[in-house]
Amino acid sequence: MCGIVAYVGDKQAYPILIKGLQRLEYRGYDSAGVALINNGTHTYKCMGKVKDLEAHAKEQSIEGHIGIGHTRWATHGEPNNINAHPHTSMKGKFTLVHNGIIENYAHLKKELTSRGFTFQSDTDTEVLVNLIENIYLEQNVSAEIAVRVALSKVIGAYGLVISCEDEKDKLIAARKGSPLVIGVGESEYFLASDASPIIEYTDQVIYMNDEDVAILSKDDLVLKNIQNDAQKPKIQKIDLSIDEIDKGDYEHYMLKEIYEQPHSIGDTFRGRISIDKTKIFLGGIIDVMPKLNQAKRIIIVACGTSWHAGMVGEYLFEEYARVPVEVEYASEFRYRNPVINPDDVLIAISQSGETADTLAAIKMAKEKGATIIGICNVVGSSIPRETHAGVYTHAGPEIGVASTKAFSSQVTVLTMMAFMIGRKRGSLYDELYKQLIHELTLIPEKIEIILKSDSYIKGIAELYKNASNALYLGRGYLFPVALEGALKLKEISYIHAEGYPAAEMKHGPIALIDENMPVFVLATKDKSYEKIVSNIQEVKARNGKVIAIVTEGDETIKKLADHVIEVPDCHEAIAPLLTVVPLQIISYHIAVMRGCDVDQPRNLAKSVTVE
Ligand code: G6P
Repeated sequence: MCGIVAYVGDKQAYPILIKGLQRLEYRGYDSAGVALINNGTHTYKCMGKVKDLEAHAKEQSIEGHIGIGHTRWATHGEPNNINAHPHTSMKGKFTLVHNGIIENYAHLKKELTSRGFTFQSDTDTEVLVNLIENIYLEQNVSAEIAVRVALSKVIGAYGLVISCEDEKDKLIAARKGSPLVIGVGESEYFLASDASPIIEYTDQVIYMNDEDVAILSKDDLVLKNIQNDAQKPKIQKIDLSIDEIDKGDYEHYMLKEIYEQPHSIGDTFRGRISIDKTKIFLGGIIDVMPKLNQAKRIIIVACGTSWHAGMVGEYLFEEYARVPVEVEYASEFRYRNPVINPDDVLIAISQSGETADTLAAIKMAKEKGATIIGICNVVGSSIPRETHAGVYTHAGPEIGVASTKAFSSQVTVLTMMAFMIGRKRGSLYDELYKQLIHELTLIPEKIEIILKSDSYIKGIAELYKNASNALYLGRGYLFPVALEGALKLKEISYIHAEGYPAAEMKHGPIALIDENMPVFVLATKDKSYEKIVSNIQEVKARNGKVIAIVTEGDETIKKLADHVIEVPDCHEAIAPLLTVVPLQIISYHIAVMRGCDVDQPRNLAKSVTVE
């Protein structure tokens, strides 16, 4: 949540900040701002997106070789011009951009108010910048010391960059809980919430650790922690190209990412399935295989779409590895004092690797002795650094806020893990293991076939674009896909949608069905096929409109449903990877037809770094 970018060097900072903010907009987009340090600090900020900021700043000549920028997802204080970052302290000494939440801000604000500080905004950030100024002026210390002392008083999470009027050639950055990456150039440094604003200038980066403080000037970087102990900067090469974060010829990132799935899934299993398709090898979890083999229980924690992937994992692990699995919302798990034993394995799934609740759930389970495995997409993010072992999904950057290719890559990793563990534990026999691996490798070409139905699916979208509600039904492996389909529709088109296990329909949702209710039924050929056919009949008997996702050539459902969308035949354990695609496509088209902002839906953010 919230994107930060900063620059210090010889270049003009403004264009770097604006371009960087555009790349980080997926993290929040309710207001944006920049501050340039050039004979004083010049701040430009406004409600809306980065393009609104550009329009707002257009008239001014914005020069300066040092600057900070921010794109916001509101936590404290509604989105408006005043609450937008950067925030400047009362006496104008410091200007700050901040990502995270200062939990004890009310207490700090009270204390500062009693010392005569006044506040313009409703934000916790303005409290922090004034706290720093108060320490700086009262204790007569350097800006860096003032920042470190202030941060030692703060409870909460932050990624921040701050400038000081009296130390004009410097920026100070600090991180706890919210990511910050330093880009190392020739006589210049960049700072950003992720590497995407940095890659066109340098591929040398330093991922800041929690409690790190960096003091940057154009020719110097000092890294220490809040306690003032020197830290050794670990420079790494980033493996990310501009093409990967470019929208290309696609109208939206979401569409690009849907279409990337044959490649992204291929990238997920590349090098992990032997060429003869007889073995799976997940190098990242090899060290914890003994734990996995003996685990009495696997706990999967995640949020949002990643939680839906986790549910597919539950079905897979229980069926093929014969281990009991619990799938938990990270936010619930971390606060309910769960029973965790040292022989439990916890798998945390996260596209961003930064989700605050998932990260906190990991830390808690780790303290209680569980073995922690991460399944993440963003290399170098916080979650992979907290886990004992892990598997990167390698889906490439996902920029559309609604997750698509990250989901299918997460499911691919879980599928490989379940088969590999099943084989090791002896619960999956060799012949089936090989058949399943073979089927998995066919998924990319089968998705290519589904993508060819795009315009047919668009035609169906046209018929239902004005619906107020929608129901998604599935059984077994396809129940989590029903949940994911409903989430896709609601988050980007703002149509209320619910996913349900098909048999549960009779216990409530059936009451909602009438001639206006589109019901998406996941009805491919599997062991519940006959039952799902009956569920379709139950919907039709109440005049509901059925859009069924079926196995190609299915004549039975064609006669019952209003529309069928065919997917190639595949083993039921792998069917989520195929059946989710038409649901992504239909949500995309409905949202476009309704004029919604597909890549940046209202109120959402891609990386949820607050709880
Ligand atoms: C947000 C995003 C979702 C994502 C969820 C979990 O809600 O909008 O797309 O599924 O966070 O994020 P994670 O990065 O942990 O997978």
